[in-house]
Amino acid sequence: MKNVTVVLGAFYGDEGKGKVIDYLSADNKYAVRYSGGNNAGHSVEVNGIKFAFHLLPSGILYDNVKAILGNGVVIDPKVLIEEINNLKEKGYKVKNLYISEKAHVILPYHIILDETLEEIREVNKLGTTKRGIGPAYCDKYERSGIRMEDFVSKRFKELLKENINNKNLILKAYKKPKLKFSEIYKEYKEYAKILKPYVCDTVTMLHNAIRKGEKILCEGAQASLLDIDFGSYPFVTSSNPTIGGAITGTGIGAKYIGEVYGVIKAYSSRVGAGPFVTELLDETGDKIRELGHEYGVTTKRPRRCGWLDLVSIRYSCMINGLTGLCVNHLDTIGKFDKIKVCVAYEYKGKKTLDFSTNIDFLNNCTPVYEEFEGNFGDISKCRKFEDLPLKAQKYINRIEELTDTPVKFIGVGAGREEIIAR
Ligand code: IMO
Ligand code: MG
Repeated sequence: MKNVTVVLGAFYGDEGKGKVIDYLSADNKYAVRYSGGNNAGHSVEVNGIKFAFHLLPSGILYDNVKAILGNGVVIDPKVLIEEINNLKEKGYKVKNLYISEKAHVILPYHIILDETLEEIREVNKLGTTKRGIGPAYCDKYERSGIRMEDFVSKRFKELLKENINNKNLILKAYKKPKLKFSEIYKEYKEYAKILKPYVCDTVTMLHNAIRKGEKILCEGAQASLLDIDFGSYPFVTSSNPTIGGAITGTGIGAKYIGEVYGVIKAYSSRVGAGPFVTELLDETGDKIRELGHEYGVTTKRPRRCGWLDLVSIRYSCMINGLTGLCVNHLDTIGKFDKIKVCVAYEYKGKKTLDFSTNIDFLNNCTPVYEEFEGNFGDISKCRKFEDLPLKAQKYINRIEELTDTPVKFIGVGAGREEIIAR
């Protein structure tokens, strides 16, 4: 039975994944994060209260939903405890949280190394979120990482000691201050005590649920074009936010996955460095930023903005096998008189629909635009596709046509109910 749905980012992040996740959450018994860490920033508004999650799955807000941090996630214990405490202050009991014993822990040296590596990079500065994500995944693959099951056991002490000795050699080479084992151990063993009750075997848990026919929602963080394999390397994150990550980051086999929804905005944004074919470095770009409130939830950085790029969205649809798209901010783009959409790239004098993450290709492509009528008016009350003005329908139809993927959700406003589900 295919009772697993995946929601993932289909562009460079910040597509409003939280909105569709929130819409689908009530219908699911499990909400699972499968990749990344607190580099993510997902906002949800419930009963007028705003929540910004970096680590916790947004499904945590439903008492009847079990919220899981899967094995593919990297966890900063300090940040996680803060998020748990924030929820408790707002009256949530947080009895529905489960953390994979296999998830890796982000420790202070990962954050220092993230900052240091970024500082010494002369070319290709990545503009990371400086949350220690890359260095934590490096340790995982290098096999010196500390998993949650180690973190909450006696083994933590010796593993931490060995890691700190090691990192001190590296930090010395970078002329950075030495880490003190005793200080870090004292602080983090307290975090371990707090988190221990949540740590468990989430793989068995999920499969018991699958057997019972219970619905599971995998909540993607980051996005397809930030994928370590399929994104614009090296300007990517250090995990697989694409569909493969949902499998390896949870232990759920492919045959259980039904719908795979990719989330995009009706325009484009990117934060951090790297190629961005439809970026607008002019007043139109500034206007999109202002109208769409394009400032980071995690780092508060202004986001780079531009027109919708259907060449890269089409690629996301292909690599993820998307069964549907969710298009957010249709209301925002509808405020322009004329809207442009990139329907092909021109490279070395030839038009192409084939996306490549090769940096030379991306840096030398020019977008081929089609123009659409804007001025959609107030569409925030529309709940059916047919309620939308024809020019807005035309815009959505073109997205479907070029990506060969149905648009199943449309965001028509910032509010929770302002969504069309088809
Ligand atoms: P959500 O889940 C947008 C970007 C960073 C940087 C690159 C690498 O909110 O969509 P990292 O700290 O991951 O090593 O940084 O990836 N990045 C994101 N951009 N939204 C995100 O998450 C992001 N997570 C990472 O800006 O360019
Ligand atoms: Mg974000």
